[in-house]
Amino acid sequence: MPLAAFLGADGQAAVESDMQPDDHVCLCFRVSLRKINAYLNREDPPVASLISECLGAGTGCGWCVPYLKHLHRQHEQGKGEPNIEGTKDDYASGRARFRETGTRDGSPGGGAGAEEHPGEPG
Ligand code: FES
Repeated sequence: MPLAAFLGADGQAAVESDMQPDDHVCLCFRVSLRKINAYLNREDPPVASLISECLGAGTGCGWCVPYLKHLHRQHEQGKGEPNIEGTKDDYASGRARFRETGTRDGSPGGGAGAEEHPGEPG
């Protein structure tokens, strides 16, 4: 079945299977993709770790840190609204496994291989 696409508020094509603006990227502190993107647009932080100033994102279990870096990288590249591939349910399931095992199935943005708990945002 082909992926359905629509135009977001910024006119960029978005895929329905991706995270939606009100989905939480940082599940520990309930920080949504919309809040993180607003922070990136307002503050234009030079390093991803400063996203922690957005309601503490990334300062809990550490699951979202690679995703925050991924969003920051997309913001720096300026190719439309940063997003995370996959549904919020897939994302939450990945975090549950991460909390059980301390390992990841892969990295956001197409990286390969498992990654250990990354610790503090960097
Ligand atoms: S999900 Fe962001 S620190 Fe746990």
